[in-house]
Amino acid sequence: MRIGIIGAGSVGGTLGRGLAKAGHAVTFGVRYPSDAKHSALTSGGTTVATVRDAVERSEVVIVATPWAAAQAAVESAGDFGGRVLVDATNPIGPGFKLTHGHTDSGAEQVARWATNARVVKAFNTVGVEVMANPAFGGAKAAMFIAGDDEAACTAVLGLARDLGFDAYRLGALTQARLLEPLAMVWITMAMPLKHGREFALGLMRR
Ligand SMILES: NC(=O)c1ccc[n+]([C@@H]2O[C@H](COP(=O)([O-])OP(=O)(O)OC[C@H]3O[C@@H](n4cnc5c(N)ncnc54)[C@H](OP(=O)(O)O)[C@@H]3O)[C@@H](O)[C@H]2O)c1
Repeated sequence: MRIGIIGAGSVGGTLGRGLAKAGHAVTFGVRYPSDAKHSALTSGGTTVATVRDAVERSEVVIVATPWAAAQAAVESAGDFGGRVLVDATNPIGPGFKLTHGHTDSGAEQVARWATNARVVKAFNTVGVEVMANPAFGGAKAAMFIAGDDEAACTAVLGLARDLGFDAYRLGALTQARLLEPLAMVWITMAMPLKHGREFALGLMRR
């Protein structure tokens, strides 16, 4: 697929490299494409463009900016023309707390900011080390996604599986109200509880 990534930082860069390695055509959408700091992004078959151009070249767009920049980033994209917009952000505000509770979510806020996009929440519940390699011995890290549009969710499940995740659709976009607090479980384990970053949640079955 043709993938656009708004926000070429830790998450955007990791997802972009992984998706390019899996055979997808990746364009990073950045504010200043000629900035020398983006030159490393053009290795491995990926390209760099303005945010608007990255959207126009893509079927699926991923937003991976800090939450404080998400509104400006999404709005700078213009009309998404019905494209899939994957929200990989976590709406973390002052005090390192979620800015949205259980009656709203960052993903629903992204959907309100975005013009004409099919929004899917995904890739927010693990750190970038896990995104780069979701394999844990014979097991795969779980990736839960949420979105209202079935075809959009099917496409994003495919991308998650291409990256190596054990991927599941949790339901409608309102289920992002569960996925954003779930990210805080991973973050709490990784940071205050000092379990490091090389772990993930997975499904055990019997
Ligand atoms: N890090 C993780 O392990 C992880 C895991 C899951 C989810 N998340 C979430 O993913 C999001 C990104 O995290 P990150 O760690 O990747 O942050 P990061 O490394 O700081 O990268 C953020 C990127 O967003 C870009 N950006 C900011 N405003 C922009 C705009 N208006 N248009 C285009 N690009 C813009 C920045 O560009 P400049 O460098 O030019 O400012 C930077 O490349 C956050 O919401 C975070 O909560 C992070």
